[in-house]
Amino acid sequence: MKTYRDHYFIKAKQDNYPARSVYKIREADKRFRLLRVGQKVLDLGASPGSWSLYAAQKIGAQGRLVAMDLNPLSVELPAQGIFVLGDVFDETSKARQTLVEQGPFDVVLSDMAPKTTGIKFADQAKSLDLAFQALAICRECLIKGGTFVVKFFEAHEAKALLEEMRRVFERVQGFKPKSSRAESREMFFVAMGKK
Ligand SMILES: C[S@@+](CC[C@H](N)C(=O)[O-])C[C@H]1O[C@@H](n2cnc3c(N)ncnc32)[C@H](O)[C@@H]1O
Repeated sequence: MKTYRDHYFIKAKQDNYPARSVYKIREADKRFRLLRVGQKVLDLGASPGSWSLYAAQKIGAQGRLVAMDLNPLSVELPAQGIFVLGDVFDETSKARQTLVEQGPFDVVLSDMAPKTTGIKFADQAKSLDLAFQALAICRECLIKGGTFVVKFFEAHEAKALLEEMRRVFERVQGFKPKSSRAESREMFFVAMGKK
């Protein structure tokens, strides 16, 4: 696998985060003021754990972080965080059961990404499917007024996701972090004020 040792890769190591992706959520947080002390946050697609560590720091010891992924975290979470291994869309999984037990949440974050095949349209479709499924979780598990951040691979079909999100939230904005790799087709929607 190709390793990108760019500015953000090196900075992540220095700042003790397992992945450079932390700077994307930090940028989004600075711009949209997403995370506050005491919030309950759900982090979907949390491995290796950078977003979770960042969110746990922002919500502090009075907050609660529930992180989920198909793969384990490579970091230990502070006491306010729990991690559940599993497929968040498998109705019979422990992850699914945990959503019901621990929800509702103030904020849902989804940095989920499919295993890419290199076939552009297939990867875009899978990524959008994950984003739609994360939106379905928001309908069930996010408080009224809550916030949702979701990643997807840019595609014409993302318009349908935007339209659906506008039905669920008061405000939805596209966001392309500076810390995304220049060649990356990833993009985020930041949605606030769940109706
Ligand atoms: C880009 S990584 C997330 C990086 C993470 N935000 C961080 O900062 O460390 C995408 C993750 O989505 C996870 N994922 C994809 N589909 C999933 C599913 N159905 N349930 C849970 N996790 C999933 C993958 O296993 C992968 O670890």
